[in-house]
Amino acid sequence: MERAKFILDEKDMPTQWYNIQADLPEPLPPPLHPATGKPLGPDDLAPLFPMELIMQEVSQERYIDIPEEVQEIYRTWRPTVLHRALRLEKFLDTPAKIFYKYEGTSQAGSHKPNTAVAQAYYNKKEGIKRIATETGAGQWGSALAMGCMFFGIELKVYMVKISYEQKPYRRILMETWGATCVPSPSPDTKAGRDILAKDPDCTGSLGLAISEAVEDAMNRDDTHYSLGSVLNHVMLHQTIIGEETIKQMEMADAYPDIIVGCIGGGSNFAGQFLPWMRDKISGKKPDLRIICVEPQAAPTLTRGPYAYDFGDVAGLTPLLKMHTLGHEFMPAPVHAGGLRYHGMAPIICHLYNLGFVEARAVHQLDTFESGLTFARTEGIISAPEPCHALSVAIEEALKCKETGESKNILIAHSGHGHFDLAAYDAYLSGKMQNYEFPEAKMKEALAHLPEVSSA
Ligand SMILES: Cc1ncc(COP(=O)(O)O)c(C=O)c1O
Repeated sequence: MERAKFILDEKDMPTQWYNIQADLPEPLPPPLHPATGKPLGPDDLAPLFPMELIMQEVSQERYIDIPEEVQEIYRTWRPTVLHRALRLEKFLDTPAKIFYKYEGTSQAGSHKPNTAVAQAYYNKKEGIKRIATETGAGQWGSALAMGCMFFGIELKVYMVKISYEQKPYRRILMETWGATCVPSPSPDTKAGRDILAKDPDCTGSLGLAISEAVEDAMNRDDTHYSLGSVLNHVMLHQTIIGEETIKQMEMADAYPDIIVGCIGGGSNFAGQFLPWMRDKISGKKPDLRIICVEPQAAPTLTRGPYAYDFGDVAGLTPLLKMHTLGHEFMPAPVHAGGLRYHGMAPIICHLYNLGFVEARAVHQLDTFESGLTFARTEGIISAPEPCHALSVAIEEALKCKETGESKNILIAHSGHGHFDLAAYDAYLSGKMQNYEFPEAKMKEALAHLPEVSSA
């Protein structure tokens, strides 16, 4: 009988995060100061982040110890299970072996607590009493609400208004863990008020919510800012996923030919694939394919230029070299709220430009069709974001059926969709539609990229 799951003992949970910066063939382009355009120093970031996270952001150490206090909380849901999708394989009638590492079993229902707990810990250690953050669909806000609850930190969350209205359950989750959550744009910040004055019905964007949270943190001495994706230290914390998976794939006596995951800011997928990247960079497994999947409605890697841009609408954040749709990007209301961001993790963009990872953009309807297939074979109702990964994984498994190849396909599955049932309802009732990102909108957004002389 084939095994359906691979369970790592708690005592075998990895105790270090992996830092890809130690192994990059070329260093990352540095972040630049938003006002001067000069490379940032640690002190520039000190009003926003604890020093240990700032040092992790630029660290060249290959491995970084996971603090005991963080490990202790990780163990409340980690190690997560690696599944073999035997029923999906049978349904597709494919010779491919499909594995998925499922992060939906954390208390918040996604991979986000892997960094939320670590970030709350380092802030607590530095004596910080309050954190401000943004959230799209509410996954990050709820994960950080949980992290802050564990360490007794107050949290204010600026939630993209369209999700705040469409997804009240995630707000309630945040409030249950003790956080305060307001819709963004909000009247609480200048960035929010400026937008509301121009467009009182603005449904918000992640870039705008980031501006509000950063402004909040900059205006209060007791408050830091926290970001749930994009930055190097966030990718670092998520590598616990891939480090566990490597041990579990050994238990399955299999090595992946293809690893596929969805990318919004890049953290869940980077967390899975960066530890495997060691073998690709060193030349041990040059043929390993890593496929990043994004929505056609926010095609950052596949269509956005590689340029320095702000992480937020108001231009308060450092300038990051990344593929971008322009920081003023207002996304179409696709259900995968976590994939509606204009930028992408500099680490992923760098690896994409060095040719180590591939990218694909998919349509919303195809992703939900795959989500339904997955629910009706494996039983798991996936969040709209990982449905993007499922869609490409199924496509690759069907290619194997045509060629007769028995490839190992590993899916980074970032979370469950129990709070996204309205999206499934829209799909099942035929009300869902596809959105393409129009070329004209792209040109408009890119016309406002900041000018950077040293880039
Ligand atoms: C379940 C889930 N998957 C994926 C993402 C996308 O973010 P990232 O690319 O940082 O993993 C999100 C973001 O909210 C999410 O909630």
